[in-house]
Amino acid sequence: MSILKIARMGHPVLLQPAAAIDPAGIAGDPVLQQLIDDMIETLADAGGVGLAAPQVYQGKRLILAMAPEGRSEGEGAPLHILINPELELTAEPDQLGWEGCLSIPDLRGAVPRSPSLRFHGFDRRGQPVTGEANGFFARVLQHEVDHLDGVLYPMRMKDFRYFGFDEELNRLEAEARAAEGHHDDE
Ligand code: NI
Repeated sequence: MSILKIARMGHPVLLQPAAAIDPAGIAGDPVLQQLIDDMIETLADAGGVGLAAPQVYQGKRLILAMAPEGRSEGEGAPLHILINPELELTAEPDQLGWEGCLSIPDLRGAVPRSPSLRFHGFDRRGQPVTGEANGFFARVLQHEVDHLDGVLYPMRMKDFRYFGFDEELNRLEAEARAAEGHHDDE
């Protein structure tokens, strides 16, 4: 296993649509299986919640996505490995929430997304998988599938007042909490 280099915004690989993977060849493809293992290690090392193959310079329709318990709105979800993922939005993509991206370090922005969806795809054994996602997990899936279509989250934003450096936004939030009389250790 190895930690892969992550492409940053500005590199053309992030703007190119990724190619579908033949489901019949998934289980027996050692190169693909190695890529999946390396992406899992890369995501864990970076401390992120999702990673798409184009972010590690591989133009393949493969994503990792998870939602840690209690991190944000909606239910938590364990790490999902999805090949050729398809999303069926079951609500309007109009709910604003903060997103960051390993390809756009130190920044975050408020992005409108659907709060619920159904997903379809294949797992790493080549078996079809389907499921429902809500809240933060739905957001992560939409963000990662966008990577497969060459779309980065700033391209989805409507209001650039809600785009900034983590450090500045975290400080503002801490000040707002203090002004409300809350304590950080609650
Ligand atoms: Ni991203």
